Amino acid sequence: MSPSPFSFATAFLFAALVFGKSAAEVASPLFGLCFNPENVTSLYQANLDNLLASLYKNVPATGFGTHSVGRYPNQVYGLALCRGDVSPSDCSTCLSNARDEIPKICPNDQGVIVGYDNCLLKFDDADFLGKIDLSNRFYLYNVNNVTNPAVFNKNTRELLTKLAEDIYMAPNLFASGEAKGYTSPLKKKKGVLYGMVQCTRDLSASDCKKCLDEIIGELPSCCDGKEGGRVISGSCNFRYEVYPFLSGN
Ligand SMILES: *[C@@H]1O[C@H](CO)[C@@H](O)[C@H](O)[C@H]1NC(C)=O
Ligand SMILES: *[C@@H]1O[C@H](CO)[C@@H](O)[C@H](O)[C@H]1NC(C)=O
Repeated sequence: MSPSPFSFATAFLFAALVFGKSAAEVASPLFGLCFNPENVTSLYQANLDNLLASLYKNVPATGFGTHSVGRYPNQVYGLALCRGDVSPSDCSTCLSNARDEIPKICPNDQGVIVGYDNCLLKFDDADFLGKIDLSNRFYLYNVNNVTNPAVFNKNTRELLTKLAEDIYMAPNLFASGEAKGYTSPLKKKKGVLYGMVQCTRDLSASDCKKCLDEIIGELPSCCDGKEGGRVISGSCNFRYEVYPFLSGN
């Protein structure tokens, strides 16, 4: 694996910011990282097709799964993760969209991560399962600035840090919650900050926490004083917003 995600990351970040909601409506991913640019052989492609079919079939019931198909040098390893609150049918739709997008985003690449609001799909020819992936990362933020960044940043970090602790009590490595302490510039009233953290379930709870601590540490570079932000790695991700974004909130 030779991670070189940044040109692609930049391209998709730009798209996400420019097109905002409409991009999501046409089922474009939030981002795609093509991190292993080796030519895909027809055997690798066949193994990949089997892998994706298996993940599509098995993941929606529980929201997570890993799989591997074939033998070296054409073996492919993969995982899929749906956001902890997403229903099996929405998980299914998301994985289907991700599968359709892969050939468009990374037509000739053995290692790919595709991310949507509702799901994340990753595969590679190297066995990455059970290992913390911090080399493939993606940032997203809301362009709106908060009026009181120092307090807001502190509250955001406290909320996400608390949720990262909650992971030890969460068998599916997903935790969400809310906190007070956000003053809406428009409504001039106290608002609520909503957050979530999640890891791929091939990690132990302590590796999940390690991964989350690492990406929470990137708050100043990803989303300083922004009304919403996310850091998404191949193994863990967080999101916070000043509006409810999970189903059931
Ligand atoms: C992929 O194949 C093309 C055409 O055969 C070749 O030019 C290119 O160098 C190959 N790329 C890699 C990464 O092996
Ligand atoms: C937020 O602040 C940055 C840096 O000061 C500025 O460039 C940007 O235009 C602001 N965004 C909005 C939506 O006002």
